[in-house]
Amino acid sequence: AIERTLSIIKPDATRRNLTGQIIARFEEKGLRVVASKRIKLSQAQAEGFYAVHKERSFFGELVEYMMSEPVVVQVLEGENAILANREIMGATNPANADEGTIRKDFAVDVQENSVHGSDAPETAAEEIAYFFSACEIVG
Ligand code: CMP
Repeated sequence: AIERTLSIIKPDATRRNLTGQIIARFEEKGLRVVASKRIKLSQAQAEGFYAVHKERSFFGELVEYMMSEPVVVQVLEGENAILANREIMGATNPANADEGTIRKDFAVDVQENSVHGSDAPETAAEEIAYFFSACEIVG
């Protein structure tokens, strides 16, 4: 089925000017960018987005990192987009990521892992709505 998923190009990647190379990976694999914006997250936005992780030891560091530089938030659309994007990204920890994935090729470490992608249909819907209104998404 055609799905939509939320992608974030994270601060380590925008800082190193990798935005275009990362978007090209999505497009090469058949995902389409149907919404996009470059923003600097506030503390409230970063904490709210990652609220599910608020009890984790790395939460404070994660929020500081996500606020440290601009991010590019996007909605990607395509056949099985949620799983397809996860395959294009590779494992959360680049040490475990497969060859040819974004995280294998670009990530710094498990925190500065270059991209975020929604993990399931319910979270995709929530995460898309967190950053975009319906009229900002043009398929
Ligand atoms: P993401 O897929 O966006 O979901 C949660 C994020 O927390 C993850 O990518 C990493 O950026 C970060 N993260 C996950 N595990 C760790 C960890 N063990 N230490 C530090 N950061 C982590």
